[in-house]
Amino acid sequence: MKIITAKSAGFCFGVQRAVDTVYAEVEKGGPIYTYGPIIHNEEVVADLERKGVKVLEEEELDHLDGNMRGTVIIRSHGVSREVDERLRESGLGCVDATCPFVKRIHRIVSEMSAKGAQIVIIGDPRHPEVRGIMGWADGPVTVIENRQQAEDFRAPEDAQICVVAQTTFNANKFKEFVAILKERRYNIQCMDTICNATQERQTEAREIAARADVMIVIGGRSSSNSAKLFEICKKECPRTYFIQTWRDLHLSPAENEQMIGITAGASTPKNIIEEVQNYVRTDF
Ligand code: F3S
Repeated sequence: MKIITAKSAGFCFGVQRAVDTVYAEVEKGGPIYTYGPIIHNEEVVADLERKGVKVLEEEELDHLDGNMRGTVIIRSHGVSREVDERLRESGLGCVDATCPFVKRIHRIVSEMSAKGAQIVIIGDPRHPEVRGIMGWADGPVTVIENRQQAEDFRAPEDAQICVVAQTTFNANKFKEFVAILKERRYNIQCMDTICNATQERQTEAREIAARADVMIVIGGRSSSNSAKLFEICKKECPRTYFIQTWRDLHLSPAENEQMIGITAGASTPKNIIEEVQNYVRTDF
């Protein structure tokens, strides 16, 4: 039996950088907070908790009194300008681990809306990255997450529109929605801000799943990019499993086939991928 693990499985550059930042701050000592869980992975968050890292929740922002001690780390998703400012005023030292690719979107949105552009973000309005991006616009901002919303979008005829994408948004859907907006002949400036890491991971997962008898996608329950990987793989390989760790894997011996493919979402640490590889290798 052959096991093929995607080269692009696991942490992307931005997540690796954010996680490394937290561990580096832990080494320095002092109370450490992350603004929201550092990544969508319960195992990593639990490990950091054991090391004394606390998660500062959004609701707690209102209760910061300016006298807090320690360091707060902004995760790779980034935050809105308002949250950024409030964290810096909290008395805590602030370390910004926003992924540079997300930071670039903040800059685009900030500059373009300062020039009077109406911002359109193609993405999930509930996702923290999108909520953060929205918060860098000075003027009108609209989030489009499906075809219907793209078709329903209206703006004044003379409006200048700047379109950006959530970094993990599906590239085909992004093109589809942009094409719908362009049909209206608005003055549109479109920035494809989808991150390559996501595209590469999705393309590789699709290729492996198409050849695999069984496909395993490893990712956190609340990780949207892992859920998308699962969706892509399931289309190619009906026997695709979505797991958090090797313990969730219940492959029956009858399913012992020629090739097992493995991939993992952007927030899955290397050791969890290796554990799954070892488990599959030794038990089947
Ligand atoms: Fe950054 Fe791309 Fe990862 S935007 S956080 S490197 S998915």
